[in-house]
Amino acid sequence: MRNLNEDTITQAVLARHADAPDPRLKEIMTSLVQHLHAFAREVKLTEAEWAAGIEFLTAVGHATSNKRQEFILLSDTLGLSTLVTAMNHRKPPACTEATVFGPFFVEGAPDYDLGDDIANGAKGDPCYVRGTVRGADGTPVGGAVMEIWQADADGYYDVQYPGQSEHRGRGRIRTAADGSFLFRSILAEAYPIPHDGPVGRMLEALGRHPWRPAHLHFMIRAEGYETLVTHVFRDGDQYLDSDAVFGVRSSLVAQWIRHDPGPTPDGGKSERPFYTLDFDFVLNPAP
Ligand code: BEZ
Ligand code: FE
Repeated sequence: MRNLNEDTITQAVLARHADAPDPRLKEIMTSLVQHLHAFAREVKLTEAEWAAGIEFLTAVGHATSNKRQEFILLSDTLGLSTLVTAMNHRKPPACTEATVFGPFFVEGAPDYDLGDDIANGAKGDPCYVRGTVRGADGTPVGGAVMEIWQADADGYYDVQYPGQSEHRGRGRIRTAADGSFLFRSILAEAYPIPHDGPVGRMLEALGRHPWRPAHLHFMIRAEGYETLVTHVFRDGDQYLDSDAVFGVRSSLVAQWIRHDPGPTPDGGKSERPFYTLDFDFVLNPAP
C-alpha cells in the first residue's frame, strides 16, 4: 500500500489489522485508530501540537515508578477511571455505589481486630468509624474483609513519605457475624492529588485545581458478593462538587460528627475531642 493520503490512511491501518488473531484486541484497536484519526482531523492537529503530545506522554512515563503511577493519575483526571468504573459496576439502587480505586492502595496492609486503631501513628484527630455490611436483601455479611486506607491530616498517604515504610492510616478488618464493624482512625481531610509532575502541569494549564474532598477508601470482599471498591466522602467539604478525579457520588457522602472529650464508641474514654462516622455498606450479589 503506497501513496496514502489524509483520506486513505485510516482504512489502510485498519486493513493491516484484518488478521489480528485476538478478536477483542482487533475490536479495541480498530476503534482506537478510528477515534484517534478522527480527533486529529477534528482539531486539525499541527506538527508542533503532535510533538507536544508525544513529549507530554513521555513525561508521564518518566514520572511513573513503582512508587507513583502518573498514567493512572492521567486517567483519573480525564474522567476515564470514573467512566470505566461506572460501566463495569452498574449496581441495583439498593447497593452501595462504587468509585475510583486511586493509586494509594497497598497489598499486605496489617490485619486489625474490630475496635483497633488503624492510624498507627498517622497525624490527625481521632475518629471512630462504625456500621454494618449487608447484602441487598438485608442479610448481614459476617467475615467480610474490609481494606481501609486514608490520607493523614497533612493530606499525605503513608507511602508518600520518603523512607517511611510503616503502614499508617491503612489496615484490614473483618466484620463480626452480624455484619457490624468498628475501627478507630483519624479524621479525613481534603488533599491535593500529586501535582508536581506532568499531570499537575496539565491541570494548571487547564485552569483546574488538584484537590479531592476528604474521604476514606474502602475495598470490601466477601464470598458470594461482588467486590466493592468505594469511598465515603465528608459532608460539607468544599471540593465535593469539583473533585479533581470526578469520584463523588451523593450516596457516598456522610456526616462526621464531632464530640467533646468523653466516652468513645469502643467503650473507652477520650481526653480530646473526637469524631464519629456511621456508614452502612450494601453489597451486590456476585453474578
Ligand atoms: C485517592 O483518592 O487516593 C486518589 C484517587 C485518584 C487520584 C489520586 C488519588
Ligand atoms: Fe484518597
